Amino acid sequence: MTGVNRRFVLAARPVGMPKESDFRLETAPIPTPKDGEILIRAHYVSVDPLQRPRMNASAGIGRTVNLGDVMMGRLVGEIVQSRNANYREGEFVEGMLGWQEYALSDGDTNRDLYAPGVTKVDPTIAPISTSLGILGFPGVTAYFAMLEIGQPKPGETVVVSTAAGTVGSIAGQIAKIYGCRVVGITGTDAKVDYITEELGFDAGINYATTPDLEAAVRAACPKGVDVYFDNTGGPIRDAVLPSLAKGARIPLVGRIADMHDATIKLVPDPQIHLTRARARMEGFIVYDYVDRADEARHAIAGWMRDGRMRYRETIVHGFENTPATFIAMLNGANIGKALVSVI
Ligand SMILES: NC(=O)c1ccc[n+]([C@@H]2O[C@H](COP(=O)([O-])OP(=O)(O)OC[C@H]3O[C@@H](n4cnc5c(N)ncnc54)[C@H](OP(=O)(O)O)[C@@H]3O)[C@@H](O)[C@H]2O)c1
Repeated sequence: MTGVNRRFVLAARPVGMPKESDFRLETAPIPTPKDGEILIRAHYVSVDPLQRPRMNASAGIGRTVNLGDVMMGRLVGEIVQSRNANYREGEFVEGMLGWQEYALSDGDTNRDLYAPGVTKVDPTIAPISTSLGILGFPGVTAYFAMLEIGQPKPGETVVVSTAAGTVGSIAGQIAKIYGCRVVGITGTDAKVDYITEELGFDAGINYATTPDLEAAVRAACPKGVDVYFDNTGGPIRDAVLPSLAKGARIPLVGRIADMHDATIKLVPDPQIHLTRARARMEGFIVYDYVDRADEARHAIAGWMRDGRMRYRETIVHGFENTPATFIAMLNGANIGKALVSVI
């Protein structure tokens, strides 16, 4: 296939919030698959919080992206050339194949720890964009972090942060399906309306305009918090911990509030709250569940079919807008999954 492949490489390591100049748009010929390889044309490129720590010299958890390398990120696209008997042209696959319009894959299906393996996507189940969100790794994250660590029980109170985003909106709906009272914490009134009016959360708190977040959580959770699904760390976590109920569970899923700061900060000691509540905090990494990903996809797709699980996507058109869409997501511009449509 002749033509040009556009891709974004990492041009500089950001200090604090990334800038568009931290990325550089490069062009190269569309690559030709060798024996055993497939060529994928991207339809959607994903922007995810996990990409921010990969831009640091040391990523903390997982790999770092070298300066000049194609920016690590997921895409979903169509196989336009196949020299691998396991894949047909016209099929769709999703994988960690980088911010680029065309990508090669050897067809490996290993998805462990940011591996560049691919997963086939069935476009008859849902639009292929969902393979990057509700039916992709964010959905798998919400499902297993909520059910395996959160272990919600009917009548319990569950608090979810980044509640109107990809993982948070799914996690909160799962807790509703399991019969819980669900309180979402998010950054705008429009997002509070979305989670309470469209997703059926019982209450929402706008952390950006609430002067005393700790008091607001206490008021919204009169029986205490049985599960805190922590997507942020930072001041939101500190405001929730004093309301923990006895036996609370806290899946530590994300730390977007602290993500731009590579230094280890002194944070208020959570021990007094954990000990008082006999609570359990446990770190979660989705890659521990790659072998069970289909179990989550199957359950979520079933809830989508019977109307108990809703989702939204914030889609920006144009590959050249990928860095700006990424930065906007980090600043909270998205409701649901933030994506870039490429064709
Ligand atoms: N452990 C794992 O395996 C795993 C896997 C996937 C995702 N995650 C984590 O899950 C979290 C959500 O990821 P996602 O993909 O679903 O992203 P998302 O929620 O769709 O988008 C990110 C959202 O984070 C919120 N945010 C940004 N800065 C914040 C701050 N300082 N304090 C509070 N909220 C802030 C913004 O919403 P607001 O308007 O509400 O501020 C923004 O819309 C992230 O922390 C991510 O790292 C973890």
